[in-house]
Amino acid sequence: MRHFLSLKDFTKSELLEMITLAQTIKEQTKRKEFVPYLEHQTLGMIFEKSSTRTRVSFETGIYQLGGVGLFLSSNDIQLGRGEPMKDTARVISRMVDMVMIRTFEQSKIEEFARYSKVPVINGLTDSYHPVQLMTDYMTMLECGITEPVVAYVGDGNNMTHSWLMLAGKLGFELRVATPVGYECDPQIVADALEMAKESGAKLSFGHDPKVAVAGANVVTTDTWVSMGQEEEKEKRLKDFDGFIVDEQLMALAQAGAIFLHCLPAYRDYEVSEAVFEAHADEIFLEAENRLHAQKGIMVWLDQHRGDE
Ligand code: CP
Ligand code: NVA
Repeated sequence: MRHFLSLKDFTKSELLEMITLAQTIKEQTKRKEFVPYLEHQTLGMIFEKSSTRTRVSFETGIYQLGGVGLFLSSNDIQLGRGEPMKDTARVISRMVDMVMIRTFEQSKIEEFARYSKVPVINGLTDSYHPVQLMTDYMTMLECGITEPVVAYVGDGNNMTHSWLMLAGKLGFELRVATPVGYECDPQIVADALEMAKESGAKLSFGHDPKVAVAGANVVTTDTWVSMGQEEEKEKRLKDFDGFIVDEQLMALAQAGAIFLHCLPAYRDYEVSEAVFEAHADEIFLEAENRLHAQKGIMVWLDQHRGDE
């Protein structure tokens, strides 16, 4: 049995298999052909943080695959009152067929997976957001970007870490520009650089958004204040001064470059209103693709239940 906790746990060809499945299922869905790949299966969805896209896409996705989703907010289940993660895992995984979790520390989802009888999917932790990056890759392909040169401008956070894993595995160019003091986790950088030796990924790290964006064909960013960092908001907004993706910065990218944002977006902080609206087609295609990419992941995990 395999869990989907980080992209680093998969080979390039496994990730591409999931993308191919997602593309096939997207085409079927667009034709209103709802193939019951996961008939009568239940997806438990545990949320310890807020969500719009992750909740709606997983719940709709499992339904369209012939199953049902259970929304389990930690405010409402005993986990939120102190029931241990490992007990929650041992109970829920005897009743459902797959579990998606959005939580804080990566170690919490790893603990859940250790005790789970069914595949576990990371719906965002403080360290990673892997389902989002599968979506972003699918979206880049749909936008005709087959040789990505990606500039990530902003916080060295869960999104950046997953970009590093994706680039590291698939072997494309990723340039990261963060403010000083907001760099990526050094262990995750080391892991990505190790992967790059095999895949040929070109990874670079710096503090100048202009250097990162010059000549890129994909520009991306994320909020400066992730969930759980609300108390640091005031300081962060000051420290990220100069890191907005605005028209001046976008002008340095390749002609026809796309702009991606996992959303929610905070206008005139990490991205200007003008850049956001000019690239709304790509951004909302990316949001829609959550539905399709995650179906590919769920079906793949179901097909690999027998694996070591
Ligand atoms: N991008 C993303 O995961 O959005 P939500 O927080 O709304 O789920
Ligand atoms: N980095 C953001 C992503 C939200 C989808 C957060 O963790 O809040």
